[in-house]
Amino acid sequence: MENNGYAISKYPDVDEVYRRLNILVSQPIRPLRRDKMQDVLNYFDQKCAKSKMLNDEARQIIPGGVQHNQAFNYPFPIAIEKAEGYQLWDVDGNRYIDFLQAGGPTVLGSNYKPVREKVIEMLQSCGPVTGLFHEYELKLAELVRRFMPANEMFRMLGSGTESVMAAIRAARAYTKHKKIIKVGGAYHGWSDQMVYGLHIPGTGRLEAKGIPYGSTWNTQEFFPNSVSSLRRQLVLNRILGGTAAVIVEPLGPESGTRPVPYDFNQKVRDLCDEFGALLIFDEVVTGFRMGMGGAQGYFGIKPDLTIFGKCITGGYPMAGGVGGRTEVIMRFAAGIGGTGEHAYIGGTLSANPLSCVAGYHALLEMDRTNAAVIAGRAGDRLTSGLQAIIEKYNLPFVTYNTGSIVHLETSGVMLLDFRNPIRLAKELKPRKHMIEEMGAAYMANGLVTLAGSRVYTSMADSDEVIDEALERFEFVLSNVG
Ligand SMILES: Cc1ncc(COP(=O)(O)O)c(C=O)c1O
Repeated sequence: MENNGYAISKYPDVDEVYRRLNILVSQPIRPLRRDKMQDVLNYFDQKCAKSKMLNDEARQIIPGGVQHNQAFNYPFPIAIEKAEGYQLWDVDGNRYIDFLQAGGPTVLGSNYKPVREKVIEMLQSCGPVTGLFHEYELKLAELVRRFMPANEMFRMLGSGTESVMAAIRAARAYTKHKKIIKVGGAYHGWSDQMVYGLHIPGTGRLEAKGIPYGSTWNTQEFFPNSVSSLRRQLVLNRILGGTAAVIVEPLGPESGTRPVPYDFNQKVRDLCDEFGALLIFDEVVTGFRMGMGGAQGYFGIKPDLTIFGKCITGGYPMAGGVGGRTEVIMRFAAGIGGTGEHAYIGGTLSANPLSCVAGYHALLEMDRTNAAVIAGRAGDRLTSGLQAIIEKYNLPFVTYNTGSIVHLETSGVMLLDFRNPIRLAKELKPRKHMIEEMGAAYMANGLVTLAGSRVYTSMADSDEVIDEALERFEFVLSNVG
């Protein structure tokens, strides 16, 4: 289970992770002591006055005052002014260690100079967009195929969400089947058909406000890791007209918040082959963060279609794309050379020169510097340090990592599901609020995390940075009641 050139040095013992997570959710929550939480709120009041002022104004014009789901909202969002490597500075001059890394794309660290310089050169020569072909589109597509050969052809789009929409359309056009099966709790963007079983398995249309029933009619979910339910669904779908595709996040829903056993993806591949469905790997997070070969290289699986996002432009705008088998991707080809079975997609700014040059040089730099592996080692160091802190203070919290994706579960909210609806209804709010508090506490101690429970490391995280971060984590965790 060890694999050179990849961020994961040792695949987590998934049974053991679930054992510990189940213990965590079976116990009452252990939030910060109330006096310590007051200190956290005081930090925001006293040290983040300008952020607060900006947010008060933003609330008048921006719904909720914040435009990004991952921006930390509690008690109010911090406005960032400067980003460099592993560090962020807010508008009040406070410094943070950045473990959000924009939600994953910046494996090289934020605002990485060699890529920035190439982007500036492009802006000076060509500007951000012309609407016509640019050589960097070709260069980036070739690079994607070189690192992940299952992507015989590649079409660039504006986001992961768009790319999932496109892949589903191509899969349906190719197989002539309609049903799409996803894993409950997984996130594949916010298109009408994918806001289904979001975040919490078994919740189906719970979040589908504003989405007509017809849009999710052909979307189905199965419980994480339940290969037998997937098989049952595929059998049933034979009668219902067939399955176009099974889409998975290869590390498990929400970047492995519910981790998958090492052989899960192979089992899904086998079932797809048996039932004539396409396998779509959503590598929006794993693509290049796990290594240049992505999750498909790490697990040794050949998906029919791959979704790209985030890293594909190294953190620059318009990050999306679909790669895969020629005969499927050719469904996107219009005009001369098209298949006549055109699956319509588009986008005025898709594959613009700025995004392509950024992506091309970011991938080259990641390959040259071995960024994914270095970030993965930082993730290992952080995880073992966090584990030592958890043991030192005898906390029920759970930490594990797949390379540079580090999970730190303190409330276990993500482990609730619809199989126990009474507990879900009772515990969702307090467990969710606890991670909001934890996220705020990390922030007040100079640590930016993803929603208080996930950490993305980058190549910029040296041993010294991780050790500094661990001191800060220890301070917060030592204040748990
Ligand atoms: C696994 C996965 N798929 C799809 C998406 C959607 O990508 P985007 O935000 O670019 O639309 C995300 C975003 O975080 C993701 O994590």
